[in-house]
Amino acid sequence: MELVVHVHHQIVSSLVVQQQSDAMYCHLICKHQEISLRYDSMHMRTNNLLLVFSLFQEEIRPLERCVLEDFTPCSKSHLWKLMMSFYDRKGPDSWSQGIVPHFITCNTFISKSYVKVLHGFICDGLRAKSAMPLDPNEPLYIIELGAGSGKFSFFMLKVLEEMQSVCDFPLKNIKFIMTDFTEANFQFWQNHPALKPYFESGQLDAGIFDAVNDRTIKLWKGNKVLGPGSCKNPIVIVANYLFDTLYHDIFQVEHGVLKEGLVSTGSKHSDEPDPLDPDIIQRLDNHYKYVPTTTSYYQEEEGDEKHLKRILDWYVDRFQSQAASILVPIGALRALRRLGQFSNGRALIISGDKGNNNPDQFLGLMDPHIAVHGSFSLMVNYHAIGAWFTSRGGFALHNPQEEASLKVSTFVLSPEMSLDGNINDDLYLGDTLNQLDLSRSKRFPFLTQAFIDNVDQFGPNDYFVLQKSLKEDMTQPACPLRTVVAILKLGDWDPDVFFKFRDVILTHAPTCGIKLRNDLCRGIPRVWSNYYLMDMDKDIAFEIGRFYYGIREYERALHYYKESITTVGKHHVTYHNQGLCHYSLGFLDQALELFRLALSMNGDYEKAKSWIEKVETELKRRNNITTPVPEKVTQALVSAGENIDVQVEPLAEEVQNMAI
Ligand SMILES: C[S@@+](CC[C@H](N)C(=O)[O-])C[C@H]1O[C@@H](n2cnc3c(N)ncnc32)[C@H](O)[C@@H]1O
Repeated sequence: MELVVHVHHQIVSSLVVQQQSDAMYCHLICKHQEISLRYDSMHMRTNNLLLVFSLFQEEIRPLERCVLEDFTPCSKSHLWKLMMSFYDRKGPDSWSQGIVPHFITCNTFISKSYVKVLHGFICDGLRAKSAMPLDPNEPLYIIELGAGSGKFSFFMLKVLEEMQSVCDFPLKNIKFIMTDFTEANFQFWQNHPALKPYFESGQLDAGIFDAVNDRTIKLWKGNKVLGPGSCKNPIVIVANYLFDTLYHDIFQVEHGVLKEGLVSTGSKHSDEPDPLDPDIIQRLDNHYKYVPTTTSYYQEEEGDEKHLKRILDWYVDRFQSQAASILVPIGALRALRRLGQFSNGRALIISGDKGNNNPDQFLGLMDPHIAVHGSFSLMVNYHAIGAWFTSRGGFALHNPQEEASLKVSTFVLSPEMSLDGNINDDLYLGDTLNQLDLSRSKRFPFLTQAFIDNVDQFGPNDYFVLQKSLKEDMTQPACPLRTVVAILKLGDWDPDVFFKFRDVILTHAPTCGIKLRNDLCRGIPRVWSNYYLMDMDKDIAFEIGRFYYGIREYERALHYYKESITTVGKHHVTYHNQGLCHYSLGFLDQALELFRLALSMNGDYEKAKSWIEKVETELKRRNNITTPVPEKVTQALVSAGENIDVQVEPLAEEVQNMAI
């Protein structure tokens, strides 16, 4: 029988009744605590799970929980040390082993959207009487914060390169700077083959940069330091899935009173010998409490106190009659403040994250939700970030879409538009904030339109949802090939999307109409040029090789199998498939050699054994022919596919046999 009992609104997970000296006790284990109830009578009707106590006294003891830290303001808490420790210790494995999800922020579609938004900003900056003029003779720095694997940076660099012909700002003066706080990520980029040409051309540079604590970026290649006042043009900051990992503070407004949330970080294990062990994130057991504070909460913020107070005032004003729970992404705001100083307070920021920009979503009293996915993250309050920009003279462009895993917002920082000189703080309350955003954004018409077109109307989140839904929600029959081609085209032939739909492509390409096949053939090389080596389990070149084999373009298939060996490494099936290509081309000796190689790598590989037998027999037969056919003639016949016909089916078997 299962008993479900509610005590203090907690579900009881175990119940023990004990006779102790003079009294009866009932011990209940709840979610966070053990509760002992002394009773003088208890009636249990087990058949309908009714439990009735007559209570005298209750004693509440916490369950054993390892307290890593007593109640502390959230932004100063141990949580962030665990976060940094996670990324520091895992480095690039976070992505290559799939511990941290990344497709949503690292695909060819999102990079193109960002470049188009940036292009809008550049167009505004090059207009006569621009609100924020750009000097094409000076570098325009794009600084990516928390660049992680570097895959997004690579895609963005490619799109920038391709945008040259329509951009009046010279590409050679656009400098992309990858940053992250971990040494491991930095080293990963330095050695990455896809980034190499960009590092060599001077288009790309990189540096270790802790977005919250560092004030300067030392560039690896350029032998230069970026710091306050060093950039003549406004800087462009890109931050994806970063703000949710930087320090946050927790607030609540209840009956018009602002309260600060304090967190006690703890673990469900009773003992944690290494308090920085990132695995603790999986077993976090945090407690929260809320204490009254004032909107002058932030006191030592290098001149930002006024802006942070305005943000808190806005929430207290907005939630006078309704309770609300608010996160302030103070880590992100500190980072933006410091980076803004690089270019004397002029900047464009494009950021995508899990978050909210609609304050209605803050209604209700609740503890913050901490999402765990290898590391952990909190929802980014893009509304607060926007309010900070508006207070500093800039503005925010938000996508109002509510059902979105990834929110993308754009901000402009501009001291020129600040109203601080002649206006009181009331201007930053209520709807005036939105009106300021609206009127200021009109001075950046190209940027605003680019944001509407590439984020708001159909943006990175929509692309993510569409490809995911095509893959997961399409039941029988499987997604048609023409739909797969359309989604590939929409994302400019993203390798991960190709990999996701490879079964549909490989199954239908050999038999589909010539027009559709031609469309595929035009795009597949693009898949390869977009390839960024990271995840060894996704052998894109191998799959492209199989595609070409399926449509009987054996030379091309061989080319990609070779690429597979170079990038991902040797594999007996790759050799075997190369053997099949050579066989189809009529090169029996090479085929035999490759089948033997496959077998030498995997002695149990039955297919290689039977192909070796088959080819050996054919070679013997061929050697017995008295008048040999000249080799060139044989090759010509074979290339035309006239006498040797390797069915596509074995390919499908290869698919299933591939562990990868
Ligand atoms: C969730 S990952 C996102 C990576 C990448 N932007 C993406 O979208 O895939 C967060 C990244 O931020 C980095 N990071 C965390 N805290 C940071 C800090 N204080 N300063 C700079 N980078 C930080 C981590 O090392 C990690 O690479």
